[in-house]
Amino acid sequence: MPRRPARVRETDRLRLEPVTERHGAELLALYSDPAVADWYGEWTREGTDREAARMADGWRTDGVHKWFAFHRGTGDPVGRGGLSRVHIDGAARLELGWVLHHRFWGHGYATEIGRAGLEVAFTELDAAEVVAFTEVHNARSRAVMERLGMVYAKDIEWDGAPFVLYRKIRGLR
Ligand SMILES: CC(C)(COP(=O)(O)OP(=O)(O)OC[C@H]1O[C@@H](n2cnc3c(N)ncnc32)[C@H](O)[C@@H]1OP(=O)(O)O)[C@@H](O)C(=O)NCCC(=O)NCCS
Repeated sequence: MPRRPARVRETDRLRLEPVTERHGAELLALYSDPAVADWYGEWTREGTDREAARMADGWRTDGVHKWFAFHRGTGDPVGRGGLSRVHIDGAARLELGWVLHHRFWGHGYATEIGRAGLEVAFTELDAAEVVAFTEVHNARSRAVMERLGMVYAKDIEWDGAPFVLYRKIRGLR
């Protein structure tokens, strides 16, 4: 039975809601932001509805998946991120990720989401390790990993493309 941190959380500036089937429209708006589409490609409403359903299913079956982040002050949708379970580099691992609307880049929101994810992983899920991975040339995502104290582990291949894998081990700050 998976442990269940599936609840709304608040960080200093963000309200983090577990993604449910109801977030298809917010995901489409996020993935349609041209700066995000540069990394995530083109999406349709059908595709983001499927993606939202997949994440909702992850919350039910794995006890954890991505959050949708809203600004606590304004209610604006900021992005999505957090933990999910993936099979990567030969093992099932807990992965941390982030995607923000372009107008919210440069203010530390991805790092804030990442910090919340690490907190859940190490204090509630009892994880020994959290990983993150991105395209080799995604400097902004790599910088988030480094701000969170994650350490480059190795080059990997993901979907046939060169990626880098970072990790953070519990107890190592
Ligand atoms: C990857 C992505 C989420 C990073 O966003 P970001 O805004 O660069 O990262 P953060 O939110 O942590 O913000 C860090 C920046 O805010 C600044 N900052 C301001 N206040 C801050 C705070 N309280 N804490 C941390 N950083 C802060 C940092 O100095 C840094 O500035 P810089 O960009 O001038 O170096 C964003 O570029 C994105 O959505 N990209 C498209 C999707 C994507 O590639 N996702 C990753 C897939 S693996």
